Amino acid sequence: MGSVSKTVCVTGASGFIGSWLVMRLLEHGYTVRATVRDPANMKKVKHLLELPGAKANLTLWKADLAEEGSFDEAIKGCNGVFHVATPMDFESNDPENEVIKPTVNGVLDIMKACLKAKTVRRLIFTSSAGTIDVSEFKKDLYDETCWTDVDFCRKVKMTGWVSI
Ligand SMILES: NC(=O)c1ccc[n+]([C@@H]2O[C@H](COP(=O)([O-])OP(=O)(O)OC[C@H]3O[C@@H](n4cnc5c(N)ncnc54)[C@H](OP(=O)(O)O)[C@@H]3O)[C@@H](O)[C@H]2O)c1
Repeated sequence: MGSVSKTVCVTGASGFIGSWLVMRLLEHGYTVRATVRDPANMKKVKHLLELPGAKANLTLWKADLAEEGSFDEAIKGCNGVFHVATPMDFESNDPENEVIKPTVNGVLDIMKACLKAKTVRRLIFTSSAGTIDVSEFKKDLYDETCWTDVDFCRKVKMTGWVSI
């Protein structure tokens, strides 16, 4: 995806990582489709609309991880997708339904949208070190063979466990 004049989709574009990513992609000449849950919510999208190059090369698309097929239109015709959106509600009283399910189903739905589009050459999914290094027994070295112990996370419920 090195050259300019490519169209990419950034999910969760209003967030911390998403906003920086959109800025860098616009700087590098990409046409960016930014997904947010509410494009009319200026508190969440104003900083995106004011980015250099946004007027010409940025569009906002409404999409929600909890709604199947929600990302299809935004992804259709894109060369690449950066999946950054994620529910970050660590205080949820119902983490299984409010955080874990939309996160897992959302990733699957976005992968399906990429397949349906037939134009997407690369899907990039932001993750966290928490996917590999949380377990009862610490190691000196973590590599691609390491996976976080999900049963341990569910048992001890440390801060932010739902995002792992
Ligand atoms: N921030 C860090 O330092 C850091 C470090 C390591 C890894 N990461 C990873 O990077 C990713 C993004 O983190 P972040 O810090 O940018 O989070 P963030 O600022 O909370 O942004 C996440 C975005 O996801 C969107 N979102 C939430 N629920 C959604 C839903 N149901 N459907 C569609 N969009 C939804 C929200 O956008 P709207 O409400 O506007 O739609 C929000 O702006 C996460 O996977 C995180 O684990 C972050």
